[in-house]
Amino acid sequence: MNYTTTTPLIEQSRHGPAYPSTRMRRNRRTDWSRRLVRENTLAADDLIWPVFVREGHGLAEPVDAMPGVVRHSCDTLVDAVGMARDLGIPVVAIFPFIEPDTKDPDGSVALVPDNLVCRAVRAVRQAHPDIGIQCDVALDPFTSHGHDGVLDPDGQISNDRTVDILCRQALVQAEAGCDIISPSDMMDGRIGAIRRSLDAAGHDQVQIMAYSAKYASGFYGPFREAVGSAPTLGSASKATYQMDPANGDEALREVALDIAEGADMVMVKPGLPYLDVIRRVKDSFGMPTYGYQVSGEYAMIRAAADRGWIDGETCMLESLMAFRRAGADGVLSYFACDAARRLREG
Ligand code: PBG
Repeated sequence: MNYTTTTPLIEQSRHGPAYPSTRMRRNRRTDWSRRLVRENTLAADDLIWPVFVREGHGLAEPVDAMPGVVRHSCDTLVDAVGMARDLGIPVVAIFPFIEPDTKDPDGSVALVPDNLVCRAVRAVRQAHPDIGIQCDVALDPFTSHGHDGVLDPDGQISNDRTVDILCRQALVQAEAGCDIISPSDMMDGRIGAIRRSLDAAGHDQVQIMAYSAKYASGFYGPFREAVGSAPTLGSASKATYQMDPANGDEALREVALDIAEGADMVMVKPGLPYLDVIRRVKDSFGMPTYGYQVSGEYAMIRAAADRGWIDGETCMLESLMAFRRAGADGVLSYFACDAARRLREG
């Protein structure tokens, strides 16, 4: 078979004869036709809404670097989650702002059964039994040094000691009623260890969404302000556990390990700068695959929109659709409620 002569014929039969017989604009001429040929969809069902919770009552405290995002106290969080549920959003992901004076090097408050996260989970669970609740498993909101794990005497992040603690953190959250445990710490072996701990305690129905390919990214800046880990972490780097932004193949190895260890769903994070990774993960494994449009991505779009430099709603929906086109089954996004509202309005 001579490929130099057959390939153009195959190409031609797949795509039709060239211009002027083929006019790509024909399918784009009317709204109904554009809808008919549309390859991907975006719906409220595809969105996970990350929310921030803090101590107090009646609070909705703005996060400076994330215009439109607030830290709720448990009571106003319950109302906000009710709104998200009414918009058709299937899951909320709860992140705590922990009071600075309760942090210590081991992040021990993470293991307290009635800590802020667990109280928030219980309050939301009780008020809204029909929405999914997701919780991060990682120690950074709780540690006095802002790292996701505990430190060895030489200052390195101890993988195995951290995994032991994360297993107990996951159990405390599952006991509070969390549906999806989401380890975001990037320690080796934590998915398998957490799965075994959950199962041994009778939580075999609790799902795990692994932050499988999580990069050491500058785009997490506003989130660290929101949960209060910016001052504790300072200029320290997470590069010894989070991935190098230069690497793509390595992401596939990370995902393969998490699947082998029992992950139900996998995630790539950040989002827009890593759509190539989402596509490769989806194509390689066919897993339920999620992208996290992180705080810095949200802040960029909001900041430009608030200055009138871009149309915020157009860019919001376009960016979320881009995740879908890249192969993501869903997106964690601070825009989730705004987007769901816009989609409902049509
Ligand atoms: C904690 C965690 C981070 C994010 C989610 N979980 C920050 C980090 O790893 O430093 C980032 C989310 C965002 O930027 O929106 N491990």
